[in-house]
Amino acid sequence: MSGPALRKADSHHLIHLAAAGEGTDLTMLAKSLLASGRTEEASKTLAVLCEHWRESTLEHAKEEESGWYLELMENEDVKPIVLGFRRDHFLMERFVMEMEQKLQQGDSLDEVMMYAEGFLKLGQIHSKSEEKFISQLEEGVW
Ligand SMILES: [Fe+2]
Ligand SMILES: [Fe+2]
Repeated sequence: MSGPALRKADSHHLIHLAAAGEGTDLTMLAKSLLASGRTEEASKTLAVLCEHWRESTLEHAKEEESGWYLELMENEDVKPIVLGFRRDHFLMERFVMEMEQKLQQGDSLDEVMMYAEGFLKLGQIHSKSEEKFISQLEEGVW
């Protein structure tokens, strides 16, 4: 989904929801596998989770930044808000990178899990803020 779908609150919300649903399920699955001592399976699930975030949320973020955000930043009033959104994207990518590196290095899965849960929270806050902002655009606030 691209272009016009990003500019409408309802369709943009559905894009966020689709990515978050599977991401939440994989995170919860990894957490329960880890809690029951099934570390090999937990590690594999966390690797699948990283791939999922790369292919969905991080890809969506790139798409936003390569078109829609650039247009928005032409409005000086809106620019600081968009810069904040870009910072959220940067942190989300950073979290996935941390997870991938820690998995590769065989670091503690508890640590990887903290990043996985952090990503979920970060994503929720980012999506809510973006959707609220789009609603404001639709209402003509900006
Ligand atoms: Fe975004
Ligand atoms: Fe978005």
